Amino acid sequence: GGGGGGGGGLSAEEGISFEYHRYAELREALVAVWLQCPAISRIYTVGRSAEGRELLVIEISDRPGEHEPGEPEFKYVGNMHGNEAVGRELLIFLAQYLCNEYQKGNDTIINLIHSTRIHIMPSLNPDGFEKAASQPGELKDWFVGRSNAQGIDLNRNFPDLDRIVYVNEKEGGPNNHLLKNMKKAVDQNPKLAPETKGVIHWIMDIPFVLSANLHGGDLVANYPYDETRSGSAHEYSSCPDDAIFQSLARSYSSFNPAMSDPNRPPCRKNDDDSSFVDGTTNGGAWYSVPGGMQDFNYLSSNCFEITVELSCEKFPPEETLKGYWEDNKNSLINYIEQIHRGVKGFVKDLQGNPIANATISVEGISHDVTSAKDGDYWRLLVPGNYKVTASAPGYLAITKKVAVPFSPAVVVDFELESLSERKEEEKEELMEWWKMMSETLNF
Ligand SMILES: *[C@@H]1O[C@H](CO)[C@@H](O)[C@H](O)[C@H]1NC(C)=O
Ligand SMILES: *[C@@H]1O[C@H](CO)[C@@H](O)[C@H](O)[C@H]1NC(C)=O
Ligand SMILES: [Zn+2]
Repeated sequence: GGGGGGGGGLSAEEGISFEYHRYAELREALVAVWLQCPAISRIYTVGRSAEGRELLVIEISDRPGEHEPGEPEFKYVGNMHGNEAVGRELLIFLAQYLCNEYQKGNDTIINLIHSTRIHIMPSLNPDGFEKAASQPGELKDWFVGRSNAQGIDLNRNFPDLDRIVYVNEKEGGPNNHLLKNMKKAVDQNPKLAPETKGVIHWIMDIPFVLSANLHGGDLVANYPYDETRSGSAHEYSSCPDDAIFQSLARSYSSFNPAMSDPNRPPCRKNDDDSSFVDGTTNGGAWYSVPGGMQDFNYLSSNCFEITVELSCEKFPPEETLKGYWEDNKNSLINYIEQIHRGVKGFVKDLQGNPIANATISVEGISHDVTSAKDGDYWRLLVPGNYKVTASAPGYLAITKKVAVPFSPAVVVDFELESLSERKEEEKEELMEWWKMMSETLNF
């Protein structure tokens, strides 16, 4: 091994200790990254768990604490099911790795950090993890610690926006940002766990573009929709962005040798993996999940999220953690890099003022995204020719044709003329015309 500091036969290298981190140790590990890389990191919290533990996030960015206009925001969330422990540890290792490589001058990592604001939440369910980890011995129960301390399964606890969009598909109605006027209702809803509320506010407050939710118990990258249209248990449930979601899921699975191995036997003898393709699956095709976080991101915000199952065992022996890191390191980095695909740019008025909340629509894809506070927007797309329209209330819409390569994102800026400006112009044109006519005809 590298650094060789690991006690008890566990390996450690460059500050990464390949062992399970209990709550206090998780905090210490994040603080260690911050102390080592204070210029590119910041620790914050999005709220508290039912038992009062903080939902800690470490942000890795060249301007910690700030949204830089034009720079997209990414997030990883781990350990939502408290007994699914691999994601939690991988995210601690990832934070340390990003800091190490940045300091070593690794160009790939430097470019990534300079162009992306990365938020890493190792545990959305710290109470559940403590419960799971407290069981004696290496063999952990399949369910103990899955839910939060109130017994709520957090990945069934989000507002079920799929049901709304499925009705809207038939009867007409919005296909995005379905939570717009429901923020207060979220706060007052007693059925939502504090962890769920914390993460909903986080999703609403930051202009995230791309995200992954890390789970365990299988080995596959799962993409929307998770909930089936008909309510049946298994049914391919494509969302309007099926093409890019398939590509995003592959961008994770293809760099993980175990996940993408076509000859890998199912995790358990009787598991039905028939929906798995190249280590990816549509959520509904595998099994229907109502109230999950993945579809909630897509239907309430501009954030595209997939759900990654990292390991057949939910809480595997500590000595396997290093192997999981080796298998997932390149996937974790490559997946973040996908945020720089599609089209991006700014929506402004003719005076150069940003237009927030402008709608960006793509012909043929019935799912719009919106511009953030500085007028900046990001629209993930697979390669192809598109017609992209920017519109905002009180402005004339503009449509542009754009050819999108695999990457990087094509810059498409929009300058929208306000309707009142247009009226002034029309009035002036009319006056001109009358003047000319009256001069010519002498009346
Ligand atoms: C830099 O980081 C990338 C992404 O993790 C990695 O593939 C590459 O091997 C690193 N370069 C060096 C010289 O270590
Ligand atoms: C954008 O829309 C959101 C949700 O409707 C609203 O809260 C916010 O004030 C709007 N921002 C601007 C600048 O219009
Ligand atoms: Zn899970």
